[in-house]
Amino acid sequence: MAEPQTASETEAPDISPLAAAAELERLAREIAEQDRLYYIQDTPALDDAAYDALKRRNADLEARFPNLVRPDSPSTRVGFQPSASFAAVHHGVPMLSLDNAFNAAEVADFVARIRRFLKLDLGEPLAFTVEPKIDGLSANLRYEHGRLVQGATRGDGRTGEDVTVNLRTLADIPERLQGTGWPELIEVRGEVYIGHDAFSAMNTAAKATGGRTYANPRNAASGSLRQIDAAITAARPLRFFAYAWGETSAPFGASQWEALQRLRDWGFQVSGLSERVEGEAALEGQYRRFEDQRPRLGFDIDGVVYKLDRLDWQVRLGFAGRIPRWAIAHKFAPEQARTLVNDIEIQVGRTGALTPVAKLAPINVGGVVVQNATLHNADEIARKDIRVGDTVIIQRAGDVIPQVVEVVLDARPSPEPPPFAFPDTCPCPLQTPVTRETTSGGVGTVVRRCTGEMACPFQRLEHLKLFVSRKAFDIEGLGERQLAAFYDDGLVREPADIFRLARNEAVLQVMQAREGYGETSIRNLVAAIEARRTIALARFIFALGVRHVGETTAVTLARGYGSATIFLAAMDQLAAGDAAAAEELDAMDQVGEAVVEAARAYFAEEHNRTRVANLFAQLTIEDAEAPKSDTAVAGKTVVFTGALETLTRDEAKAQAERLGAKVAGSVSKKTDIVVAGPGAGSKLKQAQALGLQVMSEGEWLTLAAGGFPPSPSRLT
Ligand code: IVH
Repeated sequence: MAEPQTASETEAPDISPLAAAAELERLAREIAEQDRLYYIQDTPALDDAAYDALKRRNADLEARFPNLVRPDSPSTRVGFQPSASFAAVHHGVPMLSLDNAFNAAEVADFVARIRRFLKLDLGEPLAFTVEPKIDGLSANLRYEHGRLVQGATRGDGRTGEDVTVNLRTLADIPERLQGTGWPELIEVRGEVYIGHDAFSAMNTAAKATGGRTYANPRNAASGSLRQIDAAITAARPLRFFAYAWGETSAPFGASQWEALQRLRDWGFQVSGLSERVEGEAALEGQYRRFEDQRPRLGFDIDGVVYKLDRLDWQVRLGFAGRIPRWAIAHKFAPEQARTLVNDIEIQVGRTGALTPVAKLAPINVGGVVVQNATLHNADEIARKDIRVGDTVIIQRAGDVIPQVVEVVLDARPSPEPPPFAFPDTCPCPLQTPVTRETTSGGVGTVVRRCTGEMACPFQRLEHLKLFVSRKAFDIEGLGERQLAAFYDDGLVREPADIFRLARNEAVLQVMQAREGYGETSIRNLVAAIEARRTIALARFIFALGVRHVGETTAVTLARGYGSATIFLAAMDQLAAGDAAAAEELDAMDQVGEAVVEAARAYFAEEHNRTRVANLFAQLTIEDAEAPKSDTAVAGKTVVFTGALETLTRDEAKAQAERLGAKVAGSVSKKTDIVVAGPGAGSKLKQAQALGLQVMSEGEWLTLAAGGFPPSPSRLT
């Protein structure tokens, strides 16, 4: 008789190592891209459930093929690298992530692992804190002698961004610790977030003024905190709640619960929803309590965090990779509902990509009325076999656009509706043919694109929206809504029209006759347009809407070509098939074949060239300052540390970069110059230990102004 199979034998891999390696590579890229959208752009493209599914698939494959774990594996990275706009802050105690449990069995596994690790038998009671997992972004607040000295974002967990000035604007963050008994050095950690009401008010106000809106409260919190101008942060309704700590000079409690009470005594908001429970049996009930309260909380939580209460046990358990063994997040299931697909509509994006959208019978999902769900692309519709008239399960995870999970086949009407026929022409009045193509990024998404480009009114309007957007021409008072109205009225059909309009009295009169446009608003709009008639080259290039030319690439091109005339001449040559022009572009930093091809295709189109020429005629385009190569600091790596007296950090950084230097956040052997101001500490010591060139702010200014570098003999 055959031996019964063990569980692991029945779970034989159903995928070959080669296929697994390829999938892991794809997942690493896809997750990195999603992280970039989420952490840097603050515009997620996936809902939490879909993102978690990617991470789980990655973890699953890595567990089955440990020798295929990649150096760039998403499982070894937390969050995202900090942005270059803020000084880097090294976290002495890394800011880590939490493992997720999605059901009771996974919570039981977590508890069993703790018992195994600590060699505790079942009779030994375990106490846990149960805390809300507020969905915002984590921050580290460093207090020395009770005073706030630094505030930073998590960044990638090891290096975050210095956002001290911004964090100081939050009423929930004490400048000085209250009460007594705090350690001389303590780093308090917690979550910066925005409540629902404040979030809606903020978006409504932004819509009215043509400002930036955010997809969800988390992104709004992140975007608001990471503002270069702290006055903007101050005006945003940010909150902070404390739940953990980093470096401390002395312990301040024997349990998580006690530590939370201390944090409250010292002036922090600590969630009143948290509780301490004895015994793991109580966890499930706590989870339900939070699930019940969730719709009424007024802020987003995406789960509950269980933390083993005893801190000595937390220390013994320590970390597995980048997650603690003593805590876990029990995530909420995404919110789902059943509804009818009344229609499938095709929307056209700026680059002509056709996106099908399901028009649903309105349905309340977790407190929000949903009427549309994205269907992504033709393949997705075919794969899920979604038909008009079907009943579907839709899902939203507090986030982004709702998705269709599946069709309820039992509820399909009879006779059956026909499968959805994806159109082969653009839904615009021109009905231009649609081509099918595989997009870049290698993710294998199949997209249908309208070939009409600027002849397609839908694409034109999308392009105009990009043109006036914040990172492009940023025209105040000319938001998407106004633009769409002007477009429909025939007042603005191409970017140059915006500038023509501002000087055309007859057109302004027509506008004034329109509802909602009084004399003052017209005058303000005209002033806002005139203010942008002079524009930086990088913004001009970005605003053209060449595929693959995002904000960063636009800056590279601007620096590389220097002036609009040189840029446009080069693009002309490129479009004419000039190999040298292609090579010149290809040689620029981070410019690849995709950009060269996209630029060639763009400028080869007569209608694009006409539009660019029309626009150019309306503007004064400022030359970009090329990074200098003939200054005393060109090519050098500079670190600024301590307080600066005449320059702000941003100015110092910009100045150094203008002079061709690179600015780094930490000192290493690669550093050439350390500019140390009063209060410089460890970085200065490190610089001295490494024998690097150290100078004062004054000396730096002399050097920057073209003077001679101080002689090393004068340095101490
Ligand atoms: S504890 C070492 N407690 O969730 C563990 N995190 O996935 C540190 N979060 O980065 C985290 N509420 O941004 C902890 N009550 C809570 C939390 C919480 C929200 C966030 C935090 C963290 C992420 C981990």
